[in-house]
Amino acid sequence: CGIVGIIGHEFKVSDLIDGLKKLEYRGYDSAGVAVIDQNGLYVSKSVGRIDNLKSVVETEKVVHGGIAHTRWATHGAPSDKNAHPHTDCSGKIAVVHNGIIENYQELKNELIEKGHKFKSDTDTEVISHLIEENFQGDLYKAVLEALKKLKGAFAIAVIHSDIPNIMVGARKGSPLVLGCNDERCILASDVTPIIKYTRDVIFLEDGDVVYIEGNKAKVTDFSGNVVIRKHTHISWDESAAEKGGFKHFMLKEIHEVPEAIESALVGRFDEDLKPNLKELDEFNLEKVKRILLVACGTSYHAGLVFKYFAEKYLDVDVLIDVASEFRYRPIRIDDNTLTIAISQSGETADTLESVRAVKKAGGKVIAITNVVGSTITRESDITLFMNAGPEIGVAASKTYVNQLIILYTLGLYMMKKRGIWSEEHNIISKQLNESPKIVRKIINNEKINQLADYYKNYHHFMYIGRGINTATAMEGALKLKEISYINAVAYPAGELKHGPIALLDPTFPVFAIAPKDSLYEKMRSNIEESRARNARILSIATEGDEEIKKISHDVIYIPEAHEDLYPLIIAPVIQLFAYYIADKRGYDPDKPRNLAKSVTVE
Ligand code: G6P
Repeated sequence: CGIVGIIGHEFKVSDLIDGLKKLEYRGYDSAGVAVIDQNGLYVSKSVGRIDNLKSVVETEKVVHGGIAHTRWATHGAPSDKNAHPHTDCSGKIAVVHNGIIENYQELKNELIEKGHKFKSDTDTEVISHLIEENFQGDLYKAVLEALKKLKGAFAIAVIHSDIPNIMVGARKGSPLVLGCNDERCILASDVTPIIKYTRDVIFLEDGDVVYIEGNKAKVTDFSGNVVIRKHTHISWDESAAEKGGFKHFMLKEIHEVPEAIESALVGRFDEDLKPNLKELDEFNLEKVKRILLVACGTSYHAGLVFKYFAEKYLDVDVLIDVASEFRYRPIRIDDNTLTIAISQSGETADTLESVRAVKKAGGKVIAITNVVGSTITRESDITLFMNAGPEIGVAASKTYVNQLIILYTLGLYMMKKRGIWSEEHNIISKQLNESPKIVRKIINNEKINQLADYYKNYHHFMYIGRGINTATAMEGALKLKEISYINAVAYPAGELKHGPIALLDPTFPVFAIAPKDSLYEKMRSNIEESRARNARILSIATEGDEEIKKISHDVIYIPEAHEDLYPLIIAPVIQLFAYYIADKRGYDPDKPRNLAKSVTVE
């Protein structure tokens, strides 16, 4: 979910909605707004996209304060009544909330006993009633009292129609950013709605409450003690988040990959093209014996690439798990264990909880994220930023590539530190630094678009790969599932014969990741096995490989590279293939159904 609140000098309701639009990537199954005018609180909600909200509110209405919300349902189905803001019985208090109130049922029962009447099925509504229960003219005090009872994760913004110049916010576990200029203050789930007003922001921390009166804000802890928070200057260009001529953000963002890679490489290689991540030296990389990798979704696949890469050269065991499993498994940490948490958003609840569990067990965590100021950056020992720039498309594209860049660099740096450096590593390093050039060629390959046109009507896909490209197959299938809603499964190619091959027939094409690497011959056998079951074969192969043509119906060629780098080179191909198919099937690749860019709930 995403929240935004504006208070102070007069503004239009449309300003709140514009702010909300910037947060649409956080979820968009319903949206709502609450503003205060001379008649009191005015609340309006609508199921569906934020644009739907525009048709049910007076966008030109001038107000002094208001809050707005775009929702990604957790408790209670997407509907008008469950959309935020939620109000109390008096209809004077309105609350927007991102997160989950774990003890809401218990609180709701207590409040019902006291006579409160609930209008929605959400956990959030208990907050407005709890505040009402404690309100005696001072909204800030009432919020502090309510906070004492809330368990779970939340970022909230609250207004009261009797005191239109005041807004109160609080955060515990979900992001909240504050920005004030001479005229007004803005609270939001991230900086994007704020930069129109000011580039000077405060990333609130867990346990912070903010009391805003007009254009002045004061930050305290949950007990009311004033705390001083550092101001951060945001240097992003607002237009960096616009589509820049492309049909969708996702397509634009895939085209930004070369530039994104360059930003990720900056300052991380010396002139001799040897990696340099000196900031990690306190982690005794020479001594590490075990690496724990934890991530979700696409980030997990980036971690899988690292596992293959690191284990090939380093004398370390690399264990990887999806965060939702990792956090509930026994965590064994010793002085020679290093944890790497990968999260594009830096806010994924499962990944964050895994970081917390590792920290609690006494471990050290390196975070890899794209979002400066995100929660993971504050909870980990150190962060390697991906520097991909904002990514609006829900399905990761350039951020996946940049995760790979950072992970390769980290792997290479460990190799250098441990004295495992050979000519081969010089080649990998050099090619990594040249990858923007290589990728530039790939993203302009029209063949991918043409093939998408041919394959768009299939209902199933089998992605196969071997070794390090097992991860590529998994990411390819995930991308296709996410945005085109085609059933795509991924297997290490050698596993086909142990079950999934039973699925293959002419209606079930195989997407084979088959670059010229040390497992190429094995891959070819697996392609032949599939072909023998009459499956149509689409292969990704290395330029000049004529043999693959004989066993595949279609081939997408990619430039030759060091075998470890193929996941990086192939990433834009699988992304574009999924993108074109989604678009041709008439879906919006930027906003896939049922998904959110940043999943801040368990
Ligand atoms: C969501 C997104 C996925 C993403 C995953 C992990 O589920 O839809 O595309 O890979 O979260 O996100 P993170 O921000 O932690 O990398």
